[in-house]
Amino acid sequence: MFLLKVVAVYGTLADLLSVASSKLGIQASSLFNGKGGLIDDIALIRDDDVLYVSEGDPFVDVWGNKQDQHGAFLIDRSPEYFEPILNYLRHGQLIINEGNTQKPEDHSPILRKEFVRFLLATPTKSELRCQGLNFSGADFSRLDLRYINFKMANLSRCNLTHANLCCSNLERADLSGANLDGANLQGVKMLCSNAEGASLRGCNFEDPSGLKANLEGANLKGVDMEGSQMTGINLRVATLKNAKLKNCNLRGATLAGTDLENCDLSGCDLQEANLRGSNVKGAIFEEMLTPLHMSQSVR
Ligand SMILES: *[C@@H]1O[C@H](CO)[C@@H](O)[C@H](O)[C@H]1NC(C)=O
Ligand SMILES: *[C@@H]1O[C@H](CO)[C@@H](O)[C@H](O)[C@H]1NC(C)=O
Ligand SMILES: *[C@@H]1O[C@H](CO)[C@@H](O)[C@H](O)[C@H]1NC(C)=O
Repeated sequence: MFLLKVVAVYGTLADLLSVASSKLGIQASSLFNGKGGLIDDIALIRDDDVLYVSEGDPFVDVWGNKQDQHGAFLIDRSPEYFEPILNYLRHGQLIINEGNTQKPEDHSPILRKEFVRFLLATPTKSELRCQGLNFSGADFSRLDLRYINFKMANLSRCNLTHANLCCSNLERADLSGANLDGANLQGVKMLCSNAEGASLRGCNFEDPSGLKANLEGANLKGVDMEGSQMTGINLRVATLKNAKLKNCNLRGATLAGTDLENCDLSGCDLQEANLRGSNVKGAIFEEMLTPLHMSQSVR
């Protein structure tokens, strides 16, 4: 996280570059518009312009959020990024946002519109750094959230229906009360996450390439996972107390030491699932697709 800094300046393009240099710790020498055109007069800056500061290197495509080794910066006209330029022009004030939009003390959640802007500027496989951020209550339904690092993020009560969370990292994330119905959770890492009371109906955890979803130690109390595809899933020592797992495919799943108290597993396929040391007190095993072997559940 970085701080917003406010500095009073006035005048010319040279002044703007000089303040940008000292604020960003670089030798700012050129300013480009979004199409790569060199801006040599401050009068050329218009609304809707996207501006880049560089140390004299030629214009590079920074749409992928790439920075050169000196950290060439993207400044657009969004409240976070363009305001600095507008303020400079209007009031002789340059405010440079050097990084994240959340100020240190600001714990208010990041919402859909703001987040989508970041997504659009990011390549597919980039592990967007969302660690520890607050998204509580956001609507992220149907979005492509693959490979994102959501470690320890707050996604409580989020709408993640039909989102693509393939290979994302949700370790220790707060997903309590979230709705993930129909989400793609192939290869997801959810170790020790808290999804208490979440809805995960009709989710797909099965990666054809064999990468297994890992929900070890997760709190899945009272979750509804009806009809989910969970072949090979790792639910070791997770808590599924009072959860609904009706008609799930749990073939080859690791349920060792899992708390399945009062869990409804009717209609599940538990072929070759490992239930050793699991707590099945009050669990419902009706209409199982394959017979459960005692060896699967020896304590
Ligand atoms: C996140 O946002 C919610 C909703 O505004 C708020 O209640 C919570 O305290 C915030 N902070 C963290 C760290 O989750
Ligand atoms: C996440 O935000 C909710 C409010 O929406 C809050 O109750 C909860 O404590 C937060 N979780 C964490 C782990 O901070
Ligand atoms: C989640 O988003 C979907 C799609 O936008 C919408 O149909 C649904 O009503 C939302 N659900 C909740 C619980 O907000």
